[in-house]
Amino acid sequence: MKTLHLETLDLTPVRMGWDIPPHINRTVKGTPLSIAGQRYERGIWMNAPCSIPLRLDGQARRLRCGFGHEDLVQSANYEAPRLRFQVELDGEIQFDSDWMASGDPARYLDLDLSEASSLILRIVPENAQVGNAQGNWIHPELDYAGAVPFLELAAPEEAPALPPPDGYSSFLPGQRWFDTDGVPIQAHGAGLLEVDGTYYMYGEHKGGTTSFWPKSRVDIIGVGVYSSQDLMNWKNEGIVLPATPQDPESPLHPSNVLERPKVQYNARTGNYVMWVKSQDAHYSWGHAMVAQSDSPTGPFEIVSSERPWKDRSFGDFALYQENGTGYLIIATGKVETTFVYRLSPDFLRIEEELSAAYPGEKREAPALLKQENLYYLITSGKSGWAPNPTRYATATSLEGPWTDQGLLFVGDEDENSFRSQPTFVLQAGEELIYMGDRWDQRDLGDSRYIWLPITLKEQTLSASWQDSWTLRQHSDLSDPSESSDPNSPAS
Ligand code: GAL
Repeated sequence: MKTLHLETLDLTPVRMGWDIPPHINRTVKGTPLSIAGQRYERGIWMNAPCSIPLRLDGQARRLRCGFGHEDLVQSANYEAPRLRFQVELDGEIQFDSDWMASGDPARYLDLDLSEASSLILRIVPENAQVGNAQGNWIHPELDYAGAVPFLELAAPEEAPALPPPDGYSSFLPGQRWFDTDGVPIQAHGAGLLEVDGTYYMYGEHKGGTTSFWPKSRVDIIGVGVYSSQDLMNWKNEGIVLPATPQDPESPLHPSNVLERPKVQYNARTGNYVMWVKSQDAHYSWGHAMVAQSDSPTGPFEIVSSERPWKDRSFGDFALYQENGTGYLIIATGKVETTFVYRLSPDFLRIEEELSAAYPGEKREAPALLKQENLYYLITSGKSGWAPNPTRYATATSLEGPWTDQGLLFVGDEDENSFRSQPTFVLQAGEELIYMGDRWDQRDLGDSRYIWLPITLKEQTLSASWQDSWTLRQHSDLSDPSESSDPNSPAS
């Protein structure tokens, strides 16, 4: 009988979703493995959910190992979901640790493998949407006779959907969405703008590798824009605010974060004004980047990049205009409140605070709509990349007061907005459209778009899940009603 230390196996084909294998004898930061203050020389670090499948063919006798949460997460003060450590033999779970919390001491396992032909070591996070689900297998070893076990990897679970050969004739929420070149659309945290019957969609290009320390993020590529006449088939118009790899001091340096671009046309100056949430990789600043261009397809030039207030961070926001006056609706951090501000006449600066919705509440992802003299403010809760219930509030004036009206979605049994977070609400002809992101924090560029029709009845908004849907009146698309459309250039 021989002893095989599992960390000596080549685990490079095992993937944790960020396209990296588990780490051997070290954490993601390169530090030694540590559980509840105890350091370990040998082991396997994994970011859950992650499985190591081994073919044993009845050659192995016992598995011995320790396991527990990696301390690194706790020490860095990141939210860490509870984890369970499981061992599966021939398709049956033979060991299940139950939920273990960050800081719990390591536990040990000595399992009879009695002729098993396959073994899976698995770590499962309680909430798969929360990052930093880091666990360690400590000194894992097998007693075995005969051949060394080898990895047995399952085929990738999902074959990518293909674009319809003749283009889209319906919205397919949650499915991969391809542009007119057949390439997946990269427009996350998007904002829409209608100009003379053409829709422009501005969004985060997250088509790079997702890294996951200190948080899930992708190096900045830039703000991309797509154009469409029917809102379903989108042509890539390129990057209108690109990253600046040559300038490490710039907030547009790839090492930072750029999110949720929104654009409004300013009839006074003839410029398209873009606001973007700009952050460092730790999400510790929260600046407003303002850029403008004389064309909807850019290029956009930065006008300013600063935190407008000392006591509030610049969080998720919406832009809105009415009768040529611009407004910023912003979920600020530190002072956790969603504020409405009036912008300067050129839309480049914040001028005056008008009202506060949800004072003291952590809200995010605001989107604003006006219908028949009532303002509807849609927001998510605040839970990072993890989805949560979407609510809306109404007011008869942008000066408030705002009244919460409850949940937007019906039939949303998991209370996670059908796994999405709002980014925009669009009035297109007769149709009101909820636009949200289904963030995939393991591969942010593959986050899906959840667009759903909103029903408005007796001043009540509601939306429900649709696998596939179409606009009621295509012909009305380029004729949004004037006064109430936040998205078309002021005339
Ligand atoms: C979300 C926010 C996203 C992104 C994410 C990072 O709540 O809406 O735009 O910033 O947090 O965790």
